[in-house]
Amino acid sequence: MSAITARRSRPAPRQPLRLARGLVEPAVFDFWASRLHPLWTWERPLARLKARHQAAEGAMTLVLQANRHFTGLRAGQHINLGVEIDGARVTRSYSPSRVDGRRIEITVRAVEGGRVSQYLCQQARIGEVFELGAAFGAMTLPAAVHGAWLFLAAGSGITPLMAMLRDLDASGMPVELDLVYWARTRAEVCFAEDLQAMAARHRGLKVHLRLTRETQAQAAPRIDQTDLAALVAELPRRQVFACGPHGFVQDAHAQLEGRVTRFEAEAFTPPQALPGETGTVDVTLSRSGRTLTVARDTSLLEALEAQGLRPASGCRMGICNTCACTKRAGITRDTQSNARSGEPDATVRLCISAASTDLTLDL
Ligand code: FES
Repeated sequence: MSAITARRSRPAPRQPLRLARGLVEPAVFDFWASRLHPLWTWERPLARLKARHQAAEGAMTLVLQANRHFTGLRAGQHINLGVEIDGARVTRSYSPSRVDGRRIEITVRAVEGGRVSQYLCQQARIGEVFELGAAFGAMTLPAAVHGAWLFLAAGSGITPLMAMLRDLDASGMPVELDLVYWARTRAEVCFAEDLQAMAARHRGLKVHLRLTRETQAQAAPRIDQTDLAALVAELPRRQVFACGPHGFVQDAHAQLEGRVTRFEAEAFTPPQALPGETGTVDVTLSRSGRTLTVARDTSLLEALEAQGLRPASGCRMGICNTCACTKRAGITRDTQSNARSGEPDATVRLCISAASTDLTLDL
């Protein structure tokens, strides 16, 4: 395994496949090929669930084996996983906790009321096949890693950082690295044994666990009340990656931006939606010819889903671009900034856009 798993470019279709394309539809090929082997497809990336084990209280690690159409991803990136639940395809984004060629591990916390997370943690069968999207996300380690680093994780934000830690571990930990990891209780700490073993192997790695709800007497302060300069040596030299809920990332940014050598962060929850406009408008879907009445204070993605439609989606927070479609006419509002856009034929991301006026979408 290479120390940093490189993204591989999609192989050019081989000559026989190019010739065969005129003779058989890829969807037809996939249908019959799947009778012979569940991962055989014309070009669709798929992954099979090989194993599942508990990562912590309320969290499971799923081991996936991708087919040859998977174009790879780097530790720290995200990937969309398409799952069929009750006959409907649902897609969510995950940041793998381990990347090793075509073998990927995702660690999923079963969220109360979370349809996909509950399904993956409890119901998905070993051998079940999922669809994979292309990798996305820019918070990855450089090809040549050196210097002093600081990883800040809260809750599920540990997963992309764990994938990077595993790459660094495989290459002998060529950096000084402090990981500060906030979890509610010790039982909810993911990868506890792996982290302990890594810290024992590498003198340059220090793991600081901060348990915010372990007991009243031992509760660790949250990041906004933690003096990172007192906790971590030589803070100004540090290159920092932070991952956690939106509020955590904001607090990390407020404390460190301009005080460290580099600061990059990713949130796994969207910012609180700003107060929206009231009332309803009509949204016309130009391909299907349907017109729907939707609320102006709801994202277009949620509004269309509420009416039984299933537009493509992944991260649901404006990062992966899966939900992007063309707005032909009307004004949309960005739910994260409240900025309005009336430009015709513009691309909108349905998950972070709401209708401000009547709209026409190319759907
Ligand atoms: S679902 Fe990822 S950008 Fe909208």
